[in-house]
Amino acid sequence: MTSFDRKKNVAIFISGKGSNMMALINDMKNEKEHPGQPKLVVSNNTKAAGLVFAEKNSIETFAFNIEKIEDNLIFEEKTLQVLKEKNIDIICLAGFMKILSEKFIKSFSKPILNIHPSLLPSFKGLNTHQRALKAGCLIHGATVHQITNKVDEGPILGQTLIDITKNSDAKQLEAKLLPHEHLLYKKVLREFLKESGKKILTIN
Ligand code: GRF
Repeated sequence: MTSFDRKKNVAIFISGKGSNMMALINDMKNEKEHPGQPKLVVSNNTKAAGLVFAEKNSIETFAFNIEKIEDNLIFEEKTLQVLKEKNIDIICLAGFMKILSEKFIKSFSKPILNIHPSLLPSFKGLNTHQRALKAGCLIHGATVHQITNKVDEGPILGQTLIDITKNSDAKQLEAKLLPHEHLLYKKVLREFLKESGKKILTIN
């Protein structure tokens, strides 16, 4: 049996609007030959707007609010259980604003991808658009990478670049970048699941 004999079961983790999640789900649903299928959407926020889209698309969801420190452990244990039940092969973090513990990453033991709105290794962490502007950068972008237990680190699988137009603010930059994030994540996930080893670079 080759690794392509069955579609890989994909779980997507979100915290908010989930536009990257929608792009990934639509791509998997619309492309017959896609090597992955959306099986589960997980959120640390029961009010995440993206959950509605997942439910409308008949994709199972698991949401659990993290309100106090102890909830972190409960969230991760329950999530690991669901991932196992659904036989998930890969996790895509997409606007997921919680840091997964080393224990979770080890226990899952399969690939976890993440999209980060900067050209890593620059601007790890939050407020990336503001920080790129403040630094006087002429280019900005997003990165899809495989995660490790260090935040916003791990092998880079693809990057998309945009120019920073004069006088733009953080909101405008975010809005300009987002559609490119969607295209990048879709391409990276396809290549990653095909195990092609191909990396994606898009200069817009
Ligand atoms: C995106 O810029 C993503 O890269 C970041 O959070 C933003 C929200 O994205 N991590 P989404 O609409 O929830 O996918």
